[in-house]
Amino acid sequence: MTTSLIDCTLINLPRILDPRGALTFVEGSRHVPFQIARVYYLYDVPGGAERGGHAHKELQQLIIAMSGSFDVILDDGGEKKCVHLNRSYFGLRIVPMIWRQLNNFSSGSVCLVLASHPYDESDYYRDYARFLSAKKNPR
Ligand code: TYD
Repeated sequence: MTTSLIDCTLINLPRILDPRGALTFVEGSRHVPFQIARVYYLYDVPGGAERGGHAHKELQQLIIAMSGSFDVILDDGGEKKCVHLNRSYFGLRIVPMIWRQLNNFSSGSVCLVLASHPYDESDYYRDYARFLSAKKNPR
């Protein structure tokens, strides 16, 4: 599949503002262009730690900084960009075949990920050279 950084957009999620506090919601196939099959979250990330370091063949994701902040470095094999997430009403869409790394986690931050498929290790590229080779020779 040919994908590029242009496809990895920031999605402004609905916000219901209320003196009692804010509420944001996400509906699969409405606010994200896929059905949500899995939710996972990263938390208790120690200072200086790096997560990610892989790409997915088919998986689509929406990444949200539920609390605190962190950086997502995206790489489509040609270009790289860094997206700083620090608002719980913005979701970063990551399409298939994008290498990503997450770092610069603030203390107490929580990274929520909505995913289009259940966990499947065979969907990962964990080797950067193999990812690049697959990017250059898409099936
Ligand atoms: P990984 O996707 O490499 O984490 P990250 O991208 O956040 O750094 O997953 C780390 C470990 O957790 C790996 O052994 C697979 C396991 N895992 C699951 O069992 N289920 C899941 O939904 C996820 C995301 C990971």
